[in-house]
Amino acid sequence: MKKLFLVLLCLAVAGLSFGQTLIGIAMPETHVQRWVKDGNSLKAEAEKRGYRAEVQWGNADQNQQNQQIQSFLTQGAKALIIGNINTGVNSVVREAAKDKVVVIAYDRIIQDSKDYDYFITFNNYKVGTLQGQGIVKGLNLASATAANPKYITLFAGSPTDDNANFFFNGAMDVLRPYIRSGVLKVVGPHPDSAKDKANFNRIATEGWYANIAKARMENLLNNEARNVTLDAVLAPNDTLARAIIEALKADAKYRAKLPVVSGQDAEFDSIMSIKNGEQYMTVFKDTAKLAEAAILLADQVLKKQKVSIPGAVLASGDLKAIGNTGAKVVITYLLDPISVDRTNILVPVNAGFYDATQSARIRQ
Ligand code: BGC
Repeated sequence: MKKLFLVLLCLAVAGLSFGQTLIGIAMPETHVQRWVKDGNSLKAEAEKRGYRAEVQWGNADQNQQNQQIQSFLTQGAKALIIGNINTGVNSVVREAAKDKVVVIAYDRIIQDSKDYDYFITFNNYKVGTLQGQGIVKGLNLASATAANPKYITLFAGSPTDDNANFFFNGAMDVLRPYIRSGVLKVVGPHPDSAKDKANFNRIATEGWYANIAKARMENLLNNEARNVTLDAVLAPNDTLARAIIEALKADAKYRAKLPVVSGQDAEFDSIMSIKNGEQYMTVFKDTAKLAEAAILLADQVLKKQKVSIPGAVLASGDLKAIGNTGAKVVITYLLDPISVDRTNILVPVNAGFYDATQSARIRQ
């Protein structure tokens, strides 16, 4: 009897130390729909692989997220998957490194840090080029002339999120030739790239908050865009695109025809907006696949196996810039984003991105 008890105890202890390794998942916010899904998918994927997993969302507040990460460390987490808010995260990442905890930057790079090795994300430069190409297509810029130019106004994401730079630079690399030839005219602040910090900050949207973008759009409509009719708005994601569209719809000038508005994330509300002919396009990033890949990466690193992530490419050449923290270049895996407009609206549906009710509404 005693022996059996000891055997069971040993098995339980072994189970605790191996099978129940904790992965802490720290997501930045819930006011952008995707992160709710990301957090839940990551937890499910970790549990599928036999880990214990905990997820917390940081409310776009780095102090709050640091407390959550700190608590994962106190509980003995062996790996952290972090979608950070800003460089304030670096202090807890340093602590994790001291404890040999595996840190994976998830979707957003942890800037200015040398205390971690891995980053998994989408090709964020390509996200921007797809947004730019969507606008080129929506405005038919290829056959537009400088005598009859089109008008665009520019928005960018949060200035503390390095992704916002890549999205904007990708879009501008596509739009710049049309701007240079006078076919496309920029209304309002015009950074040529994210490097022009002063102007970039004027079009950036702190914390990716919809109300900030909406207020800025209203302001533009009453000022710089007062005497023109906008043909397009470069919006960096769906949450902001819908806020911008709300502001536009309140202006009589746009009641009959909205400008071409870009987006990103294939959020359900934006897919419905595209279906209804309001938002023009979005960029679909299959975050279920990103979550699956991130947990596989954590699993392989924890088990000291050779890393191999199906469906992701190791960033090389120019794309290495995506993995440059400013303090070092981390090993970076990239998934591929896909452009979605009315013509291929079923792509995310067919990928199983929405639940049954949502899918049925999109298909209707
Ligand atoms: C993500 C986008 C998201 C944005 C706001 C970015 O870092 O890549 O998918 O829309 O943050 O949460």
